[in-house]
Amino acid sequence: MPAGVVDAAAKGVKLERHAVLLRRAAGAKHLVSASSHLLFRATVLATLALVVLFAVHYPSLLSHSFTLSAAPASPSSTPRSRHSHRSLLGSGASSSYGRGAAWEREVRRSATPRRDGALSVLVTGAAGFVGAHCSLALRARGDGVVGLDNFNAYYDPSLKRARQRLLASRGVVVLDADINDAALLERLLSAVPFTHVLHLAAQAGVRHAMRAPQAYVASNVAGLVALFEAAARHADPQPAVVWASSSSVYGLNTEAPFSEDHRTDRPASLYAATKKAGEAIAHSYNHIYGLSITGLRFFTVYGPWGRPDMAYFSFARSIVAGEPITLFRTADGADARRDFTYIDDVVRGCLGALDTAGKSTGSKSGKKSGPAPLRVYNLGNTSPVPVTRMVAILEKLLGKKAHKRVVTMPSNGDVPFTHANVSHAARDFGYRPATSLEDGLRHFVDWFVRYYKVNVRGGGNVLAGKTAKRKSMPMSAAS
Ligand SMILES: NC(=O)c1ccc[n+]([C@@H]2O[C@H](COP(=O)([O-])OP(=O)(O)OC[C@H]3O[C@@H](n4cnc5c(N)ncnc54)[C@H](O)[C@@H]3O)[C@@H](O)[C@H]2O)c1
Repeated sequence: MPAGVVDAAAKGVKLERHAVLLRRAAGAKHLVSASSHLLFRATVLATLALVVLFAVHYPSLLSHSFTLSAAPASPSSTPRSRHSHRSLLGSGASSSYGRGAAWEREVRRSATPRRDGALSVLVTGAAGFVGAHCSLALRARGDGVVGLDNFNAYYDPSLKRARQRLLASRGVVVLDADINDAALLERLLSAVPFTHVLHLAAQAGVRHAMRAPQAYVASNVAGLVALFEAAARHADPQPAVVWASSSSVYGLNTEAPFSEDHRTDRPASLYAATKKAGEAIAHSYNHIYGLSITGLRFFTVYGPWGRPDMAYFSFARSIVAGEPITLFRTADGADARRDFTYIDDVVRGCLGALDTAGKSTGSKSGKKSGPAPLRVYNLGNTSPVPVTRMVAILEKLLGKKAHKRVVTMPSNGDVPFTHANVSHAARDFGYRPATSLEDGLRHFVDWFVRYYKVNVRGGGNVLAGKTAKRKSMPMSAAS
């Protein structure tokens, strides 16, 4: 065979082999692509199956979430849908906070002080009566404020939402969260350098404790521990904590005026007992972890944006609605008396306590460098007034007589009188209550008629819109 023919034949064979190889490679590629599609589909299906299984078995984990609520809300929307365009943050584990960056930006902006030397304060119970007022006052003087509240339905949550909107309009974020959410508290306190915590979240109300005792233990005992834990062991540096105790800790004490040195070991209600327990718990966190802690014993705080369950508020509502009110008399025939304290005076006291709270001395490692301040102060008005006098002032301001029913005070929580000695608060931060009951109630009634659109002079005294009266609302003259 000629050499050229042999070469051509050899080339042909090589080309043929090459073509076979190419065909095989193409086939393999096809196979790989087909199988990776199959693998992808299988993975998607498996993931979906896992999500469905998880949702079926752990519905509570999926629904246990909190929302970041900085913007004014439309009254008709539900809390969750209202903020669905914002971060919807899971609270089950620290890794599942969803859009954490946006959340942290909002919180940090709200927490940032607006002037040199100002405080950065986490206010728990910020959508509550005292919390909302304190948050506004702190903000107004340039402090950074982040609020937190669980918006529970102990009294009309729409009032809490209205306070939240007021705070949002002043740039204060109120997180929709529970103080028992330890993961959230840890994250908040480790991520944001709060200088102070003003802890006001609690289950308030003296007589309601007989109906819902566990709510008091959950918020006032377990919640307080969760708060102290986060502040003592997860914040670096530790903030100073100022928290709300109550005049109710004086319980069956008969010495007057009530001084911080008097006995507080005879609480007359479970509410009082949880506040007293709180004071003991505060002692232990101060002792062990060097946490700076100040307890404030408030005396019957009243004023605009107040608490609908308290006597002055519910009496105003009943007077306007023409419904009877119940007044208590002691067994020996004396009127019950309260040291009614106007909200602005209490706010000044809270800010004074924050400003003078010394530093905590502990660190995340659990070591403290020395003793930290542990303080307790009465914040009252120093002049007890018969509840009948409070009713007479309301009647005058509302232009309508109350239908009074006078009964002997049952021994289920209330005490016959309260009377504060505030000399310690006066000495340490210049606390001087300055508002008479007449003036304070006038401010309250001005707000009340505006907020509920009450027609006081038109003769009808109708409560419009928002003030749908809750059935059997518990009242407490002091809580
Ligand atoms: N108002 C008074 O006369 C008075 C008297 C003595 C003591 N105090 C104490 O002062 C504090 C403030 O009282 P207030 O009158 O503003 O009451 P409030 O009920 O208006 O405020 C408390 C707020 O805490 C919130 N809260 C309750 N449990 C919570 C939880 N587990 N997690 C998150 N938020 C929770 C509630 O939703 C509420 O908005 C309370 O600790 C109360 O016990 C008040």
